[in-house]
Amino acid sequence: MSGPDLPPSARPGLADPAAVDVPAATFEPDFRPCAHCHQIGAGARHTTGPALTHVFGRAAGAVPGYPFSKAMRQSGLVWNAPTLARFLKDPQSVVPGTRMVFGGITDAAQLERAVEFLRQAGAEAGNGRAARPSAGRRP
Ligand code: HEC
Repeated sequence: MSGPDLPPSARPGLADPAAVDVPAATFEPDFRPCAHCHQIGAGARHTTGPALTHVFGRAAGAVPGYPFSKAMRQSGLVWNAPTLARFLKDPQSVVPGTRMVFGGITDAAQLERAVEFLRQAGAEAGNGRAARPSAGRRP
C-alpha cells in the first residue's frame, strides 16, 4: 500500500519527523513558533536548528554535534533570560549573520513565555513534559 518494503533503517529519519521519537515538550504551545526547526526535552535531536534542551546557562553555539554558524560560535553570548529575550526578539540584530531565519517575537508577553518555557523545559527534561510553573522565581 505504501511503496516498497524497506527496513526502517533505510528511511531517512530526519526528513520525516513522524518517524522519530520527538519529545513531548516540543509540542507545547509556547514552543510552537520554534518547533519547525527545534526540538526540546529529553532525547531532543538536532534538526534544522540545534536541540534546545538545557540551553539555559550554555554558551551560544557550543552544543556538540550541530554545525553552528561562525557568527553564533563567536557571539560570546551565554544563554540566560536577558540574552534569550534579546535574541528571540530580533535574532539578526543580536547575532548578525546567524543562520536562524526567524523574524522574532514582538509581543512582550509571548516573548516572556517563550523564555520561561526554555528555562523550564530544559530543567525538566528528565520527564519529557514541560511548562509546569513550579520552583524558581516568579515574575
Ligand atoms: C526557521 C528555523 C528556525 C526557527 C523557526 C527558530 N530557530 Fe532557533 N535556530 C535555528 C538555527 C538554524 C540555529 C543555528 C543558528 C546559527 O548557527 O547561526 C538556531 C539557533 C538557536 C539558538 C542558539 C542555540 C545555541 O545552542 O547556541 C537558540 C537559543 C534558538 N535558536 C532558539 C529558538 C527559539 C526559542 C525559537 C522559537 C521562538 C527558534 N529558535 C526558532 C533555526 C530556527
